[in-house]
Amino acid sequence: MEKTITNQELIAKAKQAMTYAYTPYSNFNVGAALLAADGRVFLGCNIENASYGATNCAERTAIFKAISEGAKDFVKIAIVSSAQDVTYPCGICRQVLAEHMPEGRLLFEDAKGNIVEHGMDEILPLVFSKKDLEK
Ligand code: THU
Repeated sequence: MEKTITNQELIAKAKQAMTYAYTPYSNFNVGAALLAADGRVFLGCNIENASYGATNCAERTAIFKAISEGAKDFVKIAIVSSAQDVTYPCGICRQVLAEHMPEGRLLFEDAKGNIVEHGMDEILPLVFSKKDLEK
């Protein structure tokens, strides 16, 4: 059941996910929409915690939801935030994204409403990955 979804539609889904963000501490809302190779789209938002450290970013929420629902290969992820400009993933999310979508594309929307696209190799060059464990 391969479905096609445009980059614009994936960004719109990330914006929808952002409305679910639980951010009483930072008031900084992030939304993600992850497209799996099987056509499913998984939404993620950041979910904060009074301990601060237990906070989960939007990107990892989407990835963990997807993996736990049996999805395996990912094509792209759209990421938006309440900053209304490009918000790049934090270091931990980059590492997690690199594990599960090394060939995937990342979509953002800039302040002018243009879609900005990057590859994993651009946002996390010289990555430590499972290949290193085989050396
Ligand atoms: N945050 C994300 O959800 N994704 C990112 O890539 C950057 C940071 C969240 C974590 C926290 O809830 C808030 O943004 C402020 O750091």
